[in-house]
Amino acid sequence: MVVKVTSICCIGAGYVGGPTMAMIALKCPHIKVTVVDISQPRIDAWNSDELPIYEPGLDEIVKQCRGKNLFFTTDVEGAIAESEMIFVSVNTPTKKTGLGKGKAADLTYWESAARTIAAVSKTNKIIVEKSTVPVRTAEAIEKVLQRNCNTSGVRFDILSNPEFLAEGTAMDDLTAPDRVLIGGKIEGQEGTDAVASLVEVYANWVPQERIITANLWSAELSKLAANAFLAQRISSINSMSALCEATGADVSQVAYALGKDSRIGPKFLNASVGFGGSCFQKDILNLAYICECHGLTEVADYWYSVVGMNDYQKNRFVKRVVSAMFNTIRNKKICMLGFAFKKDTGDTREAPAIDVGNGLIEDGARLAIYDPKVSDAQIAMDMGAGMSNITTYKSHIEALRDAHAVCVMTEWDEFKSYDWGEIYGVMQKPAFVFDGRLILDHDKLREIGFIVYALGKPIEPFLRSAEGN
Ligand code: UDX
Ligand code: UDX
Ligand code: ADP
Repeated sequence: MVVKVTSICCIGAGYVGGPTMAMIALKCPHIKVTVVDISQPRIDAWNSDELPIYEPGLDEIVKQCRGKNLFFTTDVEGAIAESEMIFVSVNTPTKKTGLGKGKAADLTYWESAARTIAAVSKTNKIIVEKSTVPVRTAEAIEKVLQRNCNTSGVRFDILSNPEFLAEGTAMDDLTAPDRVLIGGKIEGQEGTDAVASLVEVYANWVPQERIITANLWSAELSKLAANAFLAQRISSINSMSALCEATGADVSQVAYALGKDSRIGPKFLNASVGFGGSCFQKDILNLAYICECHGLTEVADYWYSVVGMNDYQKNRFVKRVVSAMFNTIRNKKICMLGFAFKKDTGDTREAPAIDVGNGLIEDGARLAIYDPKVSDAQIAMDMGAGMSNITTYKSHIEALRDAHAVCVMTEWDEFKSYDWGEIYGVMQKPAFVFDGRLILDHDKLREIGFIVYALGKPIEPFLRSAEGN
């Protein structure tokens, strides 16, 4: 029997759980959506005017639905007990210790959530994997659920419904997703019914042809594969950026020409100082680890090289800064514009600014960091001991005052509209710009007097002679 869902619980009120549930609440007024988390401060923030995450458009939707059919609470057990469908959207970080450390996904939070579900469920539940998990996690979770449930006759149907939203565009991605992928045990009637229940939820706003069903393992693997493919594109264009600098080609022109081939397509071809975010590196390492576990060493190595190229790109950027500035940045003030891993988010997980910042500090620089959204506390947490060489600023012009160089680390729109003439006036001379995101008008900057390094673009004679190549 296909259950027409009227109450949903989501375990984990993070970057994925919060926005996804807000969208379901908005589009399905007949469904009561309760988001739970073990973190009281997180839940308090969701219930306040200052939401714990920044996403354009999220505030409005939460305000519209909260208290009507969208609730945030720490009463995990109560919410599970009364819901027909439970999304699990807890964090699955890379394991820090033990077998598979540094590569495998740590499923501690997932397992703990599953144990709680098993303990409090008195009625049938459809469990939806939302967090990215290794292939065949559903099988492991099913065992935990079945072995720990004390009420006889309770059925758990497990579905995989990976989330493809990107941060900064989460609400647009949720409103009009390229696809919604639902994996389930589609060979049996009950499994098919569970899939149909979730399809029905999404069908409230997503066109049927965009809702894809698959078997559980395909759905789980598709999520890891999608992130690996996206990251691979960035590493591929970044590898080209190094070659362009060496040969005098222009990576933007190369990317444009590539993108015009309909088999390649134009998206995700922006060369950058490196990809960041909570997903790409973590998911590739996880994917490669799974390959290793299956003895597929060559496949694992192929994917590791995507992460290797990303590390190379960040190192290369640091080397450029040092070599361009006469091989010494000791005691020089270097301003980092942007710290978030991409624009329109305050998230700094795996942000390239962290590695680049550490690299510059290692060479003796004093860093001045300005980001429109990232808090000082977050920067302090990410940079740790390096903070003794870092000052954070609330105004870009103060961050740039007396700086020898500016490194653009995030593609925030506001950086483009700054008065770069004024900035030139307050900086030390020669004033260097290192554009790690290719967002500035380089010709104009050169006219003003800056020495400009633009990633993947022909190198200025001044920089070339400084480097001796
Ligand atoms: C290729 C380029 O497509 C073309 O733009 C360039 O000018 C010359 O090289 P071609 O070698 O003729 O053209 O064939 P193509 O269709 O690209 O296939 C190349 C190989 O890849 C074939 O062996 C094909 O079977 C294989 N292939 C292609 C796959 O294995 N999987 C695919 O999805 C596509
Ligand atoms: C990614 C996937 O896009 C999303 O589908 C998945 O659900 C989660 O992981 P996210 O990490 O939020 O989303 O951001 P994304 O826009 O993919 O960017 C990731 C990183 O790649 C950022 O650091 C971004 O700056 C960088 N990037 C992206 C490039 O360097 N060049 C590009 O062309 C695109
Ligand atoms: P993501 O980016 O995948 O959404 P986040 O780290 O932003 O990840 O969010 C995951 C959330 O899950 C955190 O707020 C964390 O407190 C919560 N969480 C982890 N384990 C549990 C659990 N067993 N029960 C409830 N909430 C949990």
